[in-house]
Amino acid sequence: MKRPVAYVAGTGKGVPAKVMTNHDFAALGLETDHNWIVERTGIVERHIARDDETTCTMAAEASREAMAKAGVGPGEIDCIILSTATPDRLLPATAVDLQAEIGATRASAFDISAACSGWIYGMTVAEGLIQSGVVETALVVSAEKMSAIVDWKDRSTCVLFGDGAGAVVLKRNKTAHASNKGILSAFMRSDGTLAELLWRPSGGAKVPFSAGVLDDRSTFLKMAGREVFKHAVRSMSEACDRALDGAKLRGDDIDVLIPHQANVRIIEATAKYANISMDKVYVNVDRYGNTSSASIPIALDEAIVSGRVKEGTTALFVAFGAGFTWGSMVIRF
Ligand SMILES: CC(C)(COP(=O)(O)OP(=O)(O)OC[C@H]1O[C@@H](n2cnc3c(N)ncnc32)[C@H](O)[C@@H]1OP(=O)(O)O)[C@@H](O)C(=O)NCCC(=O)NCCS
Repeated sequence: MKRPVAYVAGTGKGVPAKVMTNHDFAALGLETDHNWIVERTGIVERHIARDDETTCTMAAEASREAMAKAGVGPGEIDCIILSTATPDRLLPATAVDLQAEIGATRASAFDISAACSGWIYGMTVAEGLIQSGVVETALVVSAEKMSAIVDWKDRSTCVLFGDGAGAVVLKRNKTAHASNKGILSAFMRSDGTLAELLWRPSGGAKVPFSAGVLDDRSTFLKMAGREVFKHAVRSMSEACDRALDGAKLRGDDIDVLIPHQANVRIIEATAKYANISMDKVYVNVDRYGNTSSASIPIALDEAIVSGRVKEGTTALFVAFGAGFTWGSMVIRF
């Protein structure tokens, strides 16, 4: 494929107002402490949705902001791709609720399930649809209500996650080859043999939801933390190489690395491998925790608002998540 064919025209985020600090877990009767969480993960606080804040409402807030910044009305969106591990219901997709909510009447809309790598997957699919000529303007949204699926009695997982949404308007780049602005490379990979290291064992068609799955807590997120950590570092390192190779760039050429925000130690190990110094890495896991696929577009929006990403910036994005799935992308702004 001759790149770039698509560029980021606008970004937005939708984050619940309610903040939960590490100290607040004591009130839930959970035996944990602030220092343990900060030392192992870098997380200080996270945003938690109210009952009436859903994956769709957070996605809509992020989408409206992204469309406003892109100067694109809802009627101009050809396709909505929503990545989530927490759809508001199993059928139909949350993307169609979002379509109705924002009034994107001309759009096709569907969900992508690729866990924390969902934004990279969604962007790559959107780029392909733009390249094929099917789509001119895509809305790629990642929205996650992780608080609805974590086990609040399991201290090894519930302290890690947070809620939120991020959105990007991706447009066909009509002057792409002249300006060299847009997606320069993309890489995606999965390994389903490792699915059970990070998963929800029940609640789907194989083991349908019932009172029993609440009793045995199998409908909540389960994770083998240490195993996930090792695979995350290895896979994100590989993904950095692949995206850099695809863009014919080296670590030195990257102005900003925006990794999936799961854990600051994973981020540091990935940056070191990619030969990118930490002062070039955007980190906000301390304030949001792991918002799954929403973490990268939330970070990107903040990086643009704060001026870390501006016209001419070359950014590397890298993610890893349940599946396992992983992927990366280089974008020039
Ligand atoms: C989850 C993670 C922070 C745990 O850190 P760890 O050093 O691997 O810790 P372990 O799971 O080995 O547990 C060590 C001890 O801490 C305890 N512990 C676990 N969670 C705790 C918490 N929130 N507070 C205090 N103690 C905790 C464990 O029970 C264990 O105690 P024990 O030795 O008495 O059995 C770490 O494995 C990790 O970050 N993994 C990657 C997770 C991730 O980012 N996943 C998403 C990828 S998209």
